Amino acid sequence: MTVQDFISKPYPKTLETGRFTWSSPSNIALVKYWGKKEHQIPENSSLSFTLNQCKTITSLSFFKKETDEDFSFEIYLDGDKKEDFKPKIETFFKRIEVYLPFLKTYHFKIETSNTFPHSSGIASSASGMSALALCLMSIERELLEDVSEEFFNKKASFLARLGSGSACRSIEGPIVVWGAHDIIKGSSDLYGEKYPYAVHENFDNYQDTILLVDKGEKQVSSTVGHNLMHGHPFANERFKQAAQHMSRLQITLETGDLDAFIKIVESEALSLHAMMMTSMPYFILMKPNTLEIISKIWHYRKATNSKVCFTLDAGANVHVLYPENEKESVLQFINNELVAYCQNGHYISDQIGFGAQLI
Ligand code: PMV
Repeated sequence: MTVQDFISKPYPKTLETGRFTWSSPSNIALVKYWGKKEHQIPENSSLSFTLNQCKTITSLSFFKKETDEDFSFEIYLDGDKKEDFKPKIETFFKRIEVYLPFLKTYHFKIETSNTFPHSSGIASSASGMSALALCLMSIERELLEDVSEEFFNKKASFLARLGSGSACRSIEGPIVVWGAHDIIKGSSDLYGEKYPYAVHENFDNYQDTILLVDKGEKQVSSTVGHNLMHGHPFANERFKQAAQHMSRLQITLETGDLDAFIKIVESEALSLHAMMMTSMPYFILMKPNTLEIISKIWHYRKATNSKVCFTLDAGANVHVLYPENEKESVLQFINNELVAYCQNGHYISDQIGFGAQLI
């Protein structure tokens, strides 16, 4: 599909008022997206596990306005009006207006809440932007005659991408690919696509326990980080590495080879942070406790032959990934040895999930 396919034809129907609510999950990338071109087009393809517990629930209420000169909306987080969220939403609306021509004809009330604490250091942009994109698509579905589920999901992902790149991987589950890659059938730079190949049962209900090392605001936003990949001395090699990892991951997902899986996933996490440390200006998002946890995981794996591994986002928190059959032992290890490195001992137990839901 091309960008043109997402430009709506004139709407045959009208709608005066309404309300839609969507719950949309966060996702954790195994092959990381870091570096983009104009219009949120990724430099390399990425692959993520959709999460199950970490979600944003967004209700969008709307009514027809008298005039359609400007965007008109208000936004609430947990019932509190959030003026400081408005510029981000305004930018999002401007980017997607050409694809959703009804945007200026309504006044919107956006009410949102997250299942994870706002100040957990977990980015809510993926779940938040995908939930909003889905609410907007529910309006468009009412205005159009018939919209297939496939097109609905693709366009929701396409719109979410324009809010926050990784948000396009939060519509479906359990595994999503974003970014064109030779060996992944149907993969596109424009939207996330459900992973199309066989996945070994070792990955059923794969666990992700998120250790909250640092709950503070990120010192460097991902927008700034992506931009620092322009002119980065290792950028081209990094994009090549990501493409290779994608091909290798396809094989490990099929065979269930968890040792090979661990190598790819941990290498991706460290390569992401290596890009941060070698950009100009350089920066470090890991904290001493992030490294303590990594070292403990390596030690535990060696001592027990466990298949536990870690990945990192653009922050200090650690995602501990492991197969469901190790749930009990790894949780015990986390409680015994890793909780001490989490801020106030906090962590979130999650697992692979199946995507967003209309409520
Ligand atoms: O979606 P953004 O622009 O916040 O970028 C996300 C980047 C990473 O989380 C570090 C990697 C990824 O692929 O999710």
